[in-house]
Amino acid sequence: MCGIVGYVGSRSASPLLLEGLKRLEYRGYDSAGIAMSNGNGLETRKAKGKITMLENVMTGHPLHGSVGIAHTRWATHGQPNECNAHPQVDCTTTIAVVHNGIIENYGALRKMLKMQGHTFTSETDTEVLAHLIEAAFDGKLEDAVIDALNLVEGTYGIAVLSSKDPGKIVCARKGSPLLIGLGDGEFYVASDVAAILQHTRQVVYLDDGEMGVLTKDGYEVLDLNARRVSKGVSRIDWSLDEIEKGGFDHFMLKEIFEQPQTIENTMRGRLVVEEGFSKLGGLNLTKEELQALEQIIITACGTSWHSGLIGEMYMEELARIRTEVEYASEFRYRNPIVTDKTLCIVISQSGETADTLAAMREAKRRGAKTLGLVNVVGSTIAREDDGGIYLHAGPEIGVASTKAFTSQVIALALLTLKMGRLRNMSVVQGREVASAMLALPEQIQSILDRAPEIEAIAERFKDATNFLYLGRGYNFPVALEGALKLKEISYIHAEGYPAAEMKHGPIALIDSEMPVVFIAPHDAVFDKVVSNVQEVKARGGKVICITSQHESVLDGLIDFEIRVPQTVDMLYPILTVVPLQLLAYYIAVKRGLNVDQPRNLAKSVTVE
Ligand code: M6R
Repeated sequence: MCGIVGYVGSRSASPLLLEGLKRLEYRGYDSAGIAMSNGNGLETRKAKGKITMLENVMTGHPLHGSVGIAHTRWATHGQPNECNAHPQVDCTTTIAVVHNGIIENYGALRKMLKMQGHTFTSETDTEVLAHLIEAAFDGKLEDAVIDALNLVEGTYGIAVLSSKDPGKIVCARKGSPLLIGLGDGEFYVASDVAAILQHTRQVVYLDDGEMGVLTKDGYEVLDLNARRVSKGVSRIDWSLDEIEKGGFDHFMLKEIFEQPQTIENTMRGRLVVEEGFSKLGGLNLTKEELQALEQIIITACGTSWHSGLIGEMYMEELARIRTEVEYASEFRYRNPIVTDKTLCIVISQSGETADTLAAMREAKRRGAKTLGLVNVVGSTIAREDDGGIYLHAGPEIGVASTKAFTSQVIALALLTLKMGRLRNMSVVQGREVASAMLALPEQIQSILDRAPEIEAIAERFKDATNFLYLGRGYNFPVALEGALKLKEISYIHAEGYPAAEMKHGPIALIDSEMPVVFIAPHDAVFDKVVSNVQEVKARGGKVICITSQHESVLDGLIDFEIRVPQTVDMLYPILTVVPLQLLAYYIAVKRGLNVDQPRNLAKSVTVE
């Protein structure tokens, strides 16, 4: 995820900014850059890749001055390259902007600015901000920033510098964190306190709609009507390690808790609730091409394959298009039936998984159109697919995939709305799904708020040697995902099964030592799952049940209940998976294991 740091004071800014960027490295990034304003006007240095690359550039071409802004970019709009790295500048390189977030109406603004004669040099949404500020500039940087921000829709944390109003940094926030660090005759701006903790522990947190104006003589906070806002100063007591993980003990836990935000990011600007439709700009398929499709093949590995199974149900049930899901490693060596009316959906968090990439290439070779659902912008799959939907879930650092899964399911739901409404889904049905999607972030938060209940269940079962996960319909893939999460970080043997399949074999495993997790929200197959619960209980199994409302029919049948809020059937996986992520996490922690880097596993499997 992108990071911002800025400095204004009397010291040389370059080393301070580079050091601040290094403190932000843990967030993940693919390019970095710095802008400084000094007697020579405004200068920038940028580099693709690690901060050491930027340091190399700066060794050859140093930047001097004591006012600067810097950025680590995790690509969202445009490839990760030097040109798209921040700072982004205006036509005359007098204004530099670093930006976290997404400007949703950047397409329209870019068009307008081009018509006014502005020249664009990057593919980023951020560059429109630099040009808007340039167009509005009339001597005072903060006034121009206010004018520009009043035109943009979307989210931002920004820091801006201008050689025409030197010695000043203007920063502003809407939906993307930003704080001002207070030093002695010097001030900082940062998106994350880790970047400036070496220098100060006194900070002012900006709220949405607020702007900071920093000079070496002081700072003030304004609203977007240029009225002064009085703010309290907070003291940071956390250690650096605590901050990098956002106060969580592990990245995995942090990522689980980020899900209300990450799924919102996946949906942002894409869901059209009134029309029960979705806007997906990157598909590169016309309406006619989408309508002419005869089959979909979804291919992926691991957790991404599980989300694919949910996607298959979405597509067949709501868009009425024949869909198959294939392990990428199998697909690439079969002789699958693929035509030019086939859409191959490739799902990958990293965009680098070797089997998935090979499967995509094979599908392309056979004439299919390919569509990547990828989190990492500019990754190989994202570069080679014909079209794509970025997940915008931010970097996933824990090896066990959590937030990428929920964002993948959201992206599949968005695609289904689009395909379904182009085919035979009614606007009423589309609206029902879209409104239920909007409610999900808050619903996930309510599950996260009850993490201690799940931790208590983990304590009870931390020494188990086997687990069974059972679900039906949309929640069968969740059973697989729950079992995978537990296996990979706790090293407990776990199996996921369709609940009714249990009696065809796995039922032999059940005894009083065997915890069985049922994923049984109140959906169309709930009554069927209850029969399966009875079968387990009759054999003495310990039942943990994820459900959506208490049902007296479950009384006496279940030992532990974890309740999730109610939603439409197809969206339950996004809720029911969350307790399973937490259960696996807490069990692994209680077994004293390395949750973020489990043995034998790599975050991205780039070998066959
Ligand atoms: O980056 P990808 O989504 O392509 O990765 C696929 C699998 O390797 C990945 O989901 C793996 O199964 C995770 N460790 C699961 O938590």
